Amino acid sequence: MKVGIVGAGHIGGGIARQLAGAGHELMLAFSRDQETLRALATSIGPTVTVGTPAEAVAFGEVVVISVPWPVLPEALPQLGSLAGKIVIDTTNQFGAPQPPEGRTAAQFNAERMAGARYTKSFNTLTAAFQAQTATRTGDDRIVQWLCGDDAEAKSIVAGLITDAGFVPIDLGGTADAAVMEAPRRAGAVYGEEYRAADATAVVDAVAEGKPIPATPSYQ
Ligand SMILES: NC(=O)c1ccc[n+]([C@@H]2O[C@H](COP(=O)([O-])OP(=O)(O)OC[C@H]3O[C@@H](n4cnc5c(N)ncnc54)[C@H](OP(=O)(O)O)[C@@H]3O)[C@@H](O)[C@H]2O)c1
Repeated sequence: MKVGIVGAGHIGGGIARQLAGAGHELMLAFSRDQETLRALATSIGPTVTVGTPAEAVAFGEVVVISVPWPVLPEALPQLGSLAGKIVIDTTNQFGAPQPPEGRTAAQFNAERMAGARYTKSFNTLTAAFQAQTATRTGDDRIVQWLCGDDAEAKSIVAGLITDAGFVPIDLGGTADAAVMEAPRRAGAVYGEEYRAADATAVVDAVAEGKPIPATPSYQ
């Protein structure tokens, strides 16, 4: 697939590397230094190019938005229309503006990305841990939680998560996203390693509005 990456930093750069490795075409965008971005693209490989944020959105069948939360108000207006575009939001709500009381960060961002086929993923684990674990195989692979209100968009994103080296687990709609959102705390999957075998009980608990089971521990 063609994937635009808006913000190719720790997380976005890692996703670019993982997806290029799986044969996808990438366009990287949104940097204060286009030369660094070009160098990153070259270091990843020949299927990776560099463009403006609007070019990356136009290029991508899927667009990854991976900028620091307080930078979103600066980045979003540069993207042009997101109408009909599948978006993967990796951001966490550290900084202003905060989602209103009772709204998840995913709901808040879906509203700020008007018309996008919004999904949220790749946000619960550090970039270093994601880079380290993306090459795992079999039952050791780690879960990337996924939420969104568009089932078809989520199924396409799930395919990309698999290609990146992880196990996609659908946690539900944007209204169900709190459990995968910052901060790290008891009763949430944010900040915790999960493997597929332990994920179903979490999904069931979230669907039933119950507390999730205790965080698993892997030796
Ligand atoms: N880092 C993690 O472990 C982690 C884990 C899960 C989720 N997340 C979330 O994912 C999102 C991206 O995190 P990240 O750690 O990948 O961020 P990052 O490394 O700081 O990357 C941000 C990207 O945005 C670009 N950018 C353009 N204009 C910018 C500006 N005015 N200020 C700052 N950056 C600007 C930066 O490019 P230049 O530097 O070249 O300008 C950089 O490529 C965040 O919302 C974060 O909460 C991060």
